Amino acid sequence: MNTTVIIDDLVRRGWSACEDLLPVHSVLALVNEATELWRDERFTPAGIGRGQEFKIRPEIRSDHVWWWNVEELSPAQKTYWDAIEDLRRKLNEELFLNLRDFETHYAVYPPGSLYKKHVDQFQTASQRVISCILYLNASWQKEDGGQLRIYDPETSESFTDVFPGAGTFTCFRSDTINHEVLPATRERFSLTGWLRRAA
Ligand code: OGA
Ligand code: MN
Repeated sequence: MNTTVIIDDLVRRGWSACEDLLPVHSVLALVNEATELWRDERFTPAGIGRGQEFKIRPEIRSDHVWWWNVEELSPAQKTYWDAIEDLRRKLNEELFLNLRDFETHYAVYPPGSLYKKHVDQFQTASQRVISCILYLNASWQKEDGGQLRIYDPETSESFTDVFPGAGTFTCFRSDTINHEVLPATRERFSLTGWLRRAA
């Protein structure tokens, strides 16, 4: 992973994407873990809002999630955690972001599911600073859809699509970057998380 490129991208346009955050075998270990948890029906429907505002609204967001427990990271999870920790430290050193911790969940979007255009920072809490997503789908094709559409913060009309193939990593500003998940024809797996500052 080239953190210099990621940090330059974040400063210049608010988002970055790369293919080499983790070696292939580490990505596959996460693919296997997420697939098994999904098969064992351990995921729960995702919602929008937090605390008392939390609502399940499938017309806005229809994925299912399984949160990582920081106290019990599996060896597969640890490799990703360490890479994000490295990124967190460099972001703090170079941009003085004062990022304190990281929270993340696996997400599965069943065929046809989506997440309408949104920003990740809650209106009532601004701890989420940088959104980080690692995709976990072997041999994803463009025809499978499911792209993450990242909108240009300046115009909010032009956009870039990121396809969710295994190993693709993207990160973006949680406060300013509008984005959406387009429906896919296959089950779509991701690992979505947030680097956070103190409350
Ligand atoms: C989210 C989100 C994007 C993706 O969970 O907030 O925007 O590509 N996910 O999974
Ligand atoms: Mn989001």
